[in-house]
Amino acid sequence: MKVLVVGGGGREHALCWKIAQSPKVRELYCAPGNGGIGQVAELVEIAPTDIEGLVRFARDRGIDLTVVGPEAPLVAGIVDAFEAEGLEIFGPRRAAAEIEGSKAFAKEFMKRHGIPTAPYRIFSDPAEATAWIKASEEKVVVKASGLAGGKGAIVTEDQEEAMRAVETIMVERAFGPAGDLVVVEQRLYGEEASFIAFSDGTHCLPMPSSQDHKPVFDGDRGPNTGGMGAYSPAPLITPELSSRVMAEIMVPTIRGLAEEGRPYRGVLYAGLMIDQEGNPWVLEFNCRFGDPETQPILVRMKGDLVEVLEACLKGRLDEVSVGWDPRAAVCVVMASGGYPGPYEKGKEIHGLEEAEGMEDVWVFHAGTTFKDGRFFTAGGRVLGVTGLGETIPEAIERTYRAVERISWEGVHYRRDIGQKALKYL
Ligand code: AMP
Ligand code: GLY
Repeated sequence: MKVLVVGGGGREHALCWKIAQSPKVRELYCAPGNGGIGQVAELVEIAPTDIEGLVRFARDRGIDLTVVGPEAPLVAGIVDAFEAEGLEIFGPRRAAAEIEGSKAFAKEFMKRHGIPTAPYRIFSDPAEATAWIKASEEKVVVKASGLAGGKGAIVTEDQEEAMRAVETIMVERAFGPAGDLVVVEQRLYGEEASFIAFSDGTHCLPMPSSQDHKPVFDGDRGPNTGGMGAYSPAPLITPELSSRVMAEIMVPTIRGLAEEGRPYRGVLYAGLMIDQEGNPWVLEFNCRFGDPETQPILVRMKGDLVEVLEACLKGRLDEVSVGWDPRAAVCVVMASGGYPGPYEKGKEIHGLEEAEGMEDVWVFHAGTTFKDGRFFTAGGRVLGVTGLGETIPEAIERTYRAVERISWEGVHYRRDIGQKALKYL
């Protein structure tokens, strides 16, 4: 088979690494990929949002299966465009991807189907949003409805901050047209977890739980990022809670989308808040694999990922079973100095081979280039270092031992990835 992966971050490196192990795969391409991905796949210089260009490439090269990493092309309809040409592609169609592309749609959908989520209001007029906030006593989160690269949700402490958030999103249009509508929702308290599953439109096969670390600094301080690290499993998600999440959230979502004529094929990611009583609430849905969560999840996956993706496309997910390494995986993201603000690129990365040479350690590249036999930084998030261990503390130890071998000018990373899990052990 010839497989094309769309995207160029740590998630896509992990996907390429796993797909390359499939005995079915003879040629692997990645558009646009990165320096590290170039070691396992042939890089193709096409942007993930250049849907026409990707269709043309897949048709000309006779690609048998395309796998999409990021949300932007999914929400823009890459799957519909490939299907119109008779090309096989893994991911939800545009109508199903709206579950991530429009938070307003996602909230109303959850309400229609009794899926637990914070009470909310939707506004298209900033004055109405502001008036409602003024009249309400609740602490709220103000969210741009459209795609905002993970930065569109503003968690506020008081009315003044909430009104300023409306201003930022709707008047200053910090996220452009993504802020045409805002969702103002009740602020929830508890601990977050990621629940990610395969779906073939009817059936739902969960991957192990995981937890991301969005704020840039230790102790969850500082501005949010694309994710500074993750681990899997998340012991907060007990087997009982996992069954509840399947029964109360994932299965009703897949069923509800099918009933509404938007059958969901692909990966469905629920960002959850687990409240003090242990009840799960949906903060958001994503229409794709998580990043960085995919890195620790895929190193635990046994068997052939391509078979699972094909089963999703054929509507036969109920016929496959996936084994998972019982060990824990921890992924630490190493970032450029200054990230998530402005940062410099082009710094030479040292110590990669030494880290990669360690047992049960993988280094997935998020933002690198490869030139004359050397790797250089090329993005905010540069590398994700993932290690396995019998327990989470062992995985933490192994991963940080690998991280410490890698360096470049200005590198920074969180030192506390995985610590949150320890209280449950
Ligand atoms: P979202 O893009 O909707 O997932 O929101 C991004 C982040 O904002 C989440 O990961 C949470 O940390 C936070 N957040 C979103 N909604 C809420 C909420 N209702 N209560 C508290 N925090 C929230
Ligand atoms: N880890 C957060 C995301 O993939 O959106």
